[in-house]
Amino acid sequence: MTPARALLAENPIVPVVVLDDAANAPELVAALAAGGIRCAEFTLRTPAGLGAIAAVAGTADFAVGAGTVLSLDDLERSVDAGATFLVSPGFDDELVERAMERGVAVLPGVATGTEVQRAAKAGLDTVKFFPADRLGGLPTIAALAAPFVGMGFVPSGGVTGANAPEYLAHPAVPAVSGSWMAPRSLIGSGDFEAIERLSSEAVVAIGRA
Ligand code: 3PG
Repeated sequence: MTPARALLAENPIVPVVVLDDAANAPELVAALAAGGIRCAEFTLRTPAGLGAIAAVAGTADFAVGAGTVLSLDDLERSVDAGATFLVSPGFDDELVERAMERGVAVLPGVATGTEVQRAAKAGLDTVKFFPADRLGGLPTIAALAAPFVGMGFVPSGGVTGANAPEYLAHPAVPAVSGSWMAPRSLIGSGDFEAIERLSSEAVVAIGRA
């Protein structure tokens, strides 16, 4: 089992977080944890992402990851800031290799059989399926999972509390990922109570409360 699969075995919901202010990270993590979610992917698509990772890395019982990792520079800086898992929208052999060298979990994005095959060749047992809803959702995952026996697919993009249970019911889906429980707007307005409630509802919806 790779570090990614071990992480997801404990964390079937991976929040995708877009922060505009790194100072919001501690309260966000507290709200997610209070709702029963113990990991988050802080995307590097805003300048606050890296600072957010540094602000909450090392929080007890909470896995802090970096998302939108597009370059080796992103990777090094995220791991140096304390990220223990890395997520990318696409597949990049160099990033996967370096993540393994640095001993962190890595979840690259795939959209086609060719990319899944490359991930398997690189030694991975889990990939992010992105953008899941646009690619056909669960039926597409089921079709890809048939030849790639043992590969885990984490759908991201258009996942909601309503469709997460259906995704997770498939044996090739170890976890789901998305922003629905911590949307950028709620973080921006400081409504951490709503984020805690949405997180708790998500955990209940997938039957892991
Ligand atoms: C993303 O890259 O933003 C993630 O896949 C999350 O997508 P979502 O906002 O539709 O959940």
